[in-house]
Amino acid sequence: MKVGVLGAGTMGAGIAQVAAQNGHQVVLVDLGQDVLDRANAGLKKVLDRLIEKGKMDQNGADEVAGRIHYSTQISSFEGCGLVIEAIVENLKVKHEVFSAIEKVVDENCIIASNTSSLSIASIGSALKNANRVVGIHFFNPAPLMPLVEIIPAVQTSVETLSKSVELIKSWGKITVICKDTPGFIVNRVARPFYGEALRIYEEGIADFATIDWAMTELGGFRMGPFTLMDYIGNDVNYTVTETVFAAFYYDPRFKPSFTQKRHSEAGYLGRKSGRGYYNYSEGAEMPQPNKDEKLGTEILNRILVMLINEAVDAVFLNVASKEDVDLAMTNGVNYPKGLLKWAVEIGLENVLKKLESLFEEYGEDRYRPNPLLKRMVKEKKSFF
Ligand code: NAI
Repeated sequence: MKVGVLGAGTMGAGIAQVAAQNGHQVVLVDLGQDVLDRANAGLKKVLDRLIEKGKMDQNGADEVAGRIHYSTQISSFEGCGLVIEAIVENLKVKHEVFSAIEKVVDENCIIASNTSSLSIASIGSALKNANRVVGIHFFNPAPLMPLVEIIPAVQTSVETLSKSVELIKSWGKITVICKDTPGFIVNRVARPFYGEALRIYEEGIADFATIDWAMTELGGFRMGPFTLMDYIGNDVNYTVTETVFAAFYYDPRFKPSFTQKRHSEAGYLGRKSGRGYYNYSEGAEMPQPNKDEKLGTEILNRILVMLINEAVDAVFLNVASKEDVDLAMTNGVNYPKGLLKWAVEIGLENVLKKLESLFEEYGEDRYRPNPLLKRMVKEKKSFF
C-alpha cells in the first residue's frame, strides 16, 4: 500500500521514514522544494547513523531512501491507501488540505491527522466522507518512540479504526485507542508532571534542582520536570498547557503557571536558547539539589498523586482503557511505571488520603479527588 505524508517537518519526515522502513512506497509532500531537500538530507543522515550503529546495511538504507518520493503537489497522493497529515496546527489550513486530499484519493483511502491539539472531529468535518478520518498521533522522534495514539472521531467508521490500528501495529508500534478529547491520553495525563512541579516551586517548597532530583532519584523518572521542560522548550510546553486548559473550559486542574509564562516571555526557552530553568551556557554551574529525603518524598508523592488522579479521570470518563492509559505513559513519555499500576502498589486508599489532604489544605478544585478513585476505595476495588 502506498502511504502519503503531508508536511515534511520534524514529524512528517519521521513518519515517512517509519512507513518506508516498513516496506511502503511513500509520497512526502510539502509546500516547497527547499523543505523537501532538507527532509531528504535529514533522512540520509539518520540512515547513515543506523548503518554506523550496525542496525542497517547500505543496501537496506538505499532501499528505504528509494521508497520515499518527494513532491510539492497534493495530487501525488493519488493511489495512496493512507495519507497522514503533519502540517501546521491551523484548522483552516487543515480543512483546505483535507478537502484537497479527498479529491485525489480513492474512496477507501484513510485520511489521518497527526495533530496534537485540534479535535479530529473538527478536522474531519472538511471531508465529504468523514467516516475515513482518524487521528494517528505519533511522538517525537517518530522512528524511535514506540507509542502511537489512535483517535477515532465521532464520524470515524469501525473499519477505518480497525484498519488504522492493524496497520500501525504492523509497523512495530504500540497503539492505544483514545477518545477525541483535548490532549488525548499523554498530553492530558502528563499535565501535573509540569504543573504541580511548578506549583511546588512557586510555593517556595523547593527549587528546580531539588524537585528534579526528587522525581528522578526517588521517583525513577528519566528526567525531572524542569530538565524536561527545558528540553521540550518552555514556549512549546506552555502553549500545550494553555491549549489544554482552554479546551477543558478552564478547568482549574489544568491552570498554566506564571513561572513558566515569565520564563517563556523572557526568552528562557530551555536548551534551544541556552537558558531555561537552568543555564546551559559554557562554564555555567548547575545548581545542586537539597537531597533531603523527607522533603524529596513529599515532593514526589504530591506530584505522583496528581498524575494518578489524572490517569484515573481518563478511565472514569472513558477516554481510554486502564491498560491503554498505563501503556501510553510508559511508552509515550517513558514513565518508569504505569500510573494506575503505581497507584495499586501505593494503595488506592493512600492516594485518596493524600489528595483529600491537599484538597482540604488548599481548598482548590485542582486537588479534588476523582469520583472513580473514591468509589473504588469505598468498594475496596482495585484496577489490576
Ligand atoms: P514542523 O513545523 O516541523 O513541520 C510542519 C511542516 O508542514 C513544514 O515543513 C511546513 O512547510 C509544512 N506545511 C505547512 N503548511 C503546509 C501545507 N498547506 N501543505 C503542505 N505542507 C505544509 O511541525 P511538526 O513539529 O512536524 O508538527 C506537525 C504536526 O504534528 C502538528 O500538527 C503538530 O501538532 C503535530 N505533532 C508534533 C509533535 C512534535 O513534537 N513536534 C508531536 C506530535 C504531533
